[in-house]
Amino acid sequence: MSTGARIAIVFNAYEPRPAGSGERLSEESVADMAREAQEAIQGLGYDVTVIPLQRSLLNFLGRVREVNPDALVNLCEGFYGRPQWEANVAGIFELLGLTFTGNASKTLAFCQNKHKAKAVLRSCDLPTAPARLVFAADEPVDLKFPVIVKPNAEDASLGITPESVVRDEQGYRRQVQRVLENYRQPALVEPYIDGREFNVSVMEDGKATALPVSEIDFSAMPAGEPRICSYEAKWFEDHPLYQKTPPLCPAPIDDDLRQKLQGLAADAFRAMECRDYARVDFRMDSRGRIFILEVNPNPDISLNAGFARALGAAEVPYASFWARMIKNALGRKEGHDPADAAAG
Ligand SMILES: Nc1ncnc2c1ncn2[C@@H]1O[C@H](COP(=O)(O)OP(=O)(O)O)[C@@H](O)[C@H]1O
Ligand SMILES: [Mg+2]
Repeated sequence: MSTGARIAIVFNAYEPRPAGSGERLSEESVADMAREAQEAIQGLGYDVTVIPLQRSLLNFLGRVREVNPDALVNLCEGFYGRPQWEANVAGIFELLGLTFTGNASKTLAFCQNKHKAKAVLRSCDLPTAPARLVFAADEPVDLKFPVIVKPNAEDASLGITPESVVRDEQGYRRQVQRVLENYRQPALVEPYIDGREFNVSVMEDGKATALPVSEIDFSAMPAGEPRICSYEAKWFEDHPLYQKTPPLCPAPIDDDLRQKLQGLAADAFRAMECRDYARVDFRMDSRGRIFILEVNPNPDISLNAGFARALGAAEVPYASFWARMIKNALGRKEGHDPADAAAG
């Protein structure tokens, strides 16, 4: 079977930077995701080429030009070890008139800045915890302890460890200093919401469809350990914290809570002007109040990650998801006519 259409799957291949904090595991998983997407999309009858984005952008673009795809499947989560350039990569595709699956550069950039993204959510009357952007360790913060201190513009739990949850001034200053030094960006400080954690994957299939809710089960977490998805809990499969934070999908919740979370996820998707897919992270406090932690416009779509699990719970085959995303991307191609693409 062949549809005749050419698809190029693009992803950022791991390359150590001469200097930098590059946590490796979250990047390596992008290559696995590319292989899994390739298999699924080939099965749909598309002619698929996988093109890694490495240090040389020009070589990469030369290869894309050679392949001349009808659409790109964009799995790039950054460039040269830097997640902050994720949006720029999408921006280059936009300027070159290359249609691609996943979110537009503006959405990727906006969601990456958690503090600004929260301001947008708030302006749309969506619930998110108060937060302060802190630029120096001696800046006081007017939030009650415990708080969580995280980098303002990372993802995949980079910079989030059990020590990120702090209960006093001294811990707060230490963690702000760590963020400033290790990530060279302001710290985002939020009240630590001690309660259940949910996430909802959203897929655009004519409308923003919220998939079954997933919950992180913290019940096996030792007492005294903060109940968070730290970097080690998310990425180190052999780490005790990984085993103590299993996801449950569908989450064991009643219909009211499910509908509320799914409704908020779809609203957040629209508020951030997402397209194709995204995942929304939530916490619920002991009083049952729900807060959006963040909108992830470029979530992990590999088979063992949350999005695919939610697709499975909704009985949407992985390949059908990709078929829909490619259809969305090809649909956007109509009417897209940048001058450079026409000039060749
Ligand atoms: N305000 C908060 N209260 C409690 N836990 C939090 C809070 N903010 C973050 N966390 C924990 O840290 C994890 C990562 O934080 P998140 O803001 O989603 O950043 P990332 O972009 O790295 O996923 C969350 O999944 C959650 O477990
Ligand atoms: Mg998150």
